[in-house]
Amino acid sequence: MTRIIIYTGKGGVGKTSIASATALASAIKGYKTLLLSTDSAHSTSDSFDTSIGPRPTKIYKNLWAQEIDVITEIEDNWKDLSNYLAMLFSSIGLSDVKSKELAILPGMDFVAALFNINRYIKNNDFDTIIMDTAPTADTLRLLSFPNIAEWYFKRFFYVNKYATKVARATMGKVMKTPLPTDNVFDSFEEIYGYFQSIQNILTDPEITTVRLVVNPEKMVISETQRAFTYLSLYDFTVEAIVINRVMPSNTGNNFFDIKQKEQENNMKIIEESFGDIYKLYAPMYSHEIIGLDYLIKLANDLFKNDDPLKVYSKEKSIHFIETKKNTTISILIPFIDENGVIEAYISHDILHIRVGSYRRSIALPLSMAKSKIKEAKYKNQHLNISFDNGDKK
Ligand SMILES: Nc1ncnc2c1ncn2[C@@H]1O[C@H](COP(=O)(O)OP(=O)(O)OP(=O)(O)O)[C@@H](O)[C@H]1O
Ligand SMILES: [Mg+2]
Repeated sequence: MTRIIIYTGKGGVGKTSIASATALASAIKGYKTLLLSTDSAHSTSDSFDTSIGPRPTKIYKNLWAQEIDVITEIEDNWKDLSNYLAMLFSSIGLSDVKSKELAILPGMDFVAALFNINRYIKNNDFDTIIMDTAPTADTLRLLSFPNIAEWYFKRFFYVNKYATKVARATMGKVMKTPLPTDNVFDSFEEIYGYFQSIQNILTDPEITTVRLVVNPEKMVISETQRAFTYLSLYDFTVEAIVINRVMPSNTGNNFFDIKQKEQENNMKIIEESFGDIYKLYAPMYSHEIIGLDYLIKLANDLFKNDDPLKVYSKEKSIHFIETKKNTTISILIPFIDENGVIEAYISHDILHIRVGSYRRSIALPLSMAKSKIKEAKYKNQHLNISFDNGDKK
């Protein structure tokens, strides 16, 4: 079965370098690997210092890379829909719509990336797909897209298919705007099916896991914390945190030693924010990570003797359980005293927890920012904190 690893994190933290290093190490181990860049500002080609195309390009033994390009995707795979949209636009006075224009429609780049993943998984084309993504906000939109699209397609197009059939029979000839043909609806239905299938692929920890890349800096950590919450909310499994650019200690240089102390303090915040989730570390290098040699060095520092595709966890470390009245956050915290004192409070959208010497802080999703803690219980290695949803529902 293909394994998908998604690397994401704040802008500039090292996602591309780490995704490229993972993909190269995986190929060297003998896995047929695809490094897939879904960031429209592609930079995997800079990492490997070679050109990478919009279709899988072989760049090393067992290693292919692809920098997704919406226009190529529309031309390759989306004929029916693009024809319809072109037809629709031309009828309202916009003639000669090209895939270039379609490419700017909201969500087109997400769809292009997601359809590729679906195809590769169904065809079993690769042993692994390593995804280098755009900074967190865009990637969260990409990853939640199948869910939202499914909702939209279900409500809009299913109803419309039958309404349109009737409309076409009665008024199709006099209407200026061409009504979609059955072909178009068939392609919508196909797309709806794709979204369901993609959603299943992305939320199945047997196939897909996320590794969050972070630097030991406060502002980076806050964004990563929030990304972690939303990924959990969308049902993704975050299996590891990659802490990149860790500075050496006692360099003898005052400037660097002060910076290193600051990093050390921020490491504690990382521990509290991500609890027992596995941590991978990469040092700060004195050079940029460009070319095979530096990528191999980075992979060795990250994984030591581990397999780069090792699954660190298939468990979601936090779950959101919603009922009409309550939302419960269930947090996996193994190995603590069942009878220990639990302390939980919210401050500035952050849920702070202390159980004995164990500390954890979780960024609450915006929808819960005003909720109040009702109860906290520790049972079967899970801390369950329920919140009153107030009069929202
Ligand atoms: N551990 C490191 N030590 C030194 N330089 C690094 C390290 N990690 C990344 N870099 C360098 O930092 C720059 C940004 O890294 P990279 O492009 O991998 O980040 P990114 O998270 O993908 O950025 P973006 O959000 O723009 O996609 C690159 O020049 C890269 O070579
Ligand atoms: Mg990048």
